[in-house]
Amino acid sequence: MNDKVNVRPTPVLAIHGGAGTLLRGAMSADKEQRYRQALEAILLHGQAQLAAGDSALDVVVEAVRRLEECELFNAGKGAVYTAAARHELDACVMDGHDLQAGAVAGVSRTRNPVLLARLVMQHSPHLMFMGAAADELARAHGLEMVASDWFGTPERLAQLQMAQQTASGQLLDHDGQTQAGQDSGPIDEGTKFGTVGAVALDARGHLAAATSTGGMTNKQPGRVGDSPIVGAGCYANDATVAISCTGTGEAFIRACAAHDVSALIEYAGLDLHEACRRVVIEKLPRLGGRGGLIAVSAKGEVCLPFNTEGMYRGQVKVGDAAPAVGIYGEAFI
Ligand code: GLY
Repeated sequence: MNDKVNVRPTPVLAIHGGAGTLLRGAMSADKEQRYRQALEAILLHGQAQLAAGDSALDVVVEAVRRLEECELFNAGKGAVYTAAARHELDACVMDGHDLQAGAVAGVSRTRNPVLLARLVMQHSPHLMFMGAAADELARAHGLEMVASDWFGTPERLAQLQMAQQTASGQLLDHDGQTQAGQDSGPIDEGTKFGTVGAVALDARGHLAAATSTGGMTNKQPGRVGDSPIVGAGCYANDATVAISCTGTGEAFIRACAAHDVSALIEYAGLDLHEACRRVVIEKLPRLGGRGGLIAVSAKGEVCLPFNTEGMYRGQVKVGDAAPAVGIYGEAFI
């Protein structure tokens, strides 16, 4: 008699809110608490969704939508400014069940770019839309639209002004905030690579990933990073892993970072942690790539590696008493 039981891994959600350099001594405990509480609240909501049987796709899209709504993070409300003092937002979703994906680049009127990415995936024969036509698609399908200046905050505007005063010109993400003397988060806003993302495994064994970003402070209008590019900043495949990246977009695109982790598992037989290590610790730095990624494997393993000093991140499984949240290089997560 075959008494083997086919046990599915416990559903799990992981999220991130950007990576960068630590500022342990340069921040208030209150500010650090705001980041931790924001991450915990989003994880708790996702945990409840997974426990109720929601799909991994529903869970990652909702987690990223909530991250977009939180102005602490560089996506949606609180997105960074382009060199033209505007906002151009990118997002991607991927369903590991059937390898369907949807993406948008350079949208400026759609309140939640991740919802538009999902709409593209589910209601269009195409995979990626850009700019005004993407916003028009959102409007035509009844997504919430906002004025183009809705995404901005005074802090982000100060970062742009600081970036434009520097000799080097283009800086990443929130550059200049710290130098401007503003209250910074625990990760130095002058070196943080802001993106948000979520990856999940659901009760049916399906994986999904979602990524959203405002890109880089003072980026040239029209510049697109890795976040909306399948296989670079976002990837999910039920056979291997779901990945969402945060970092210097150009390097992550050249590394095919998200797909590379999947390929190392699928073709080279590496385990999740070794596959992530090869990409984040070995490959990306050689290309000048700084940042990290979050990964959930088909077996329910979680890996949250980064090659910067810190990364806003967290994970929770169904049945956990509380989410685990990390900012610095804590060993537990
Ligand atoms: N990783 C986000 C970007 O480079 O736009």
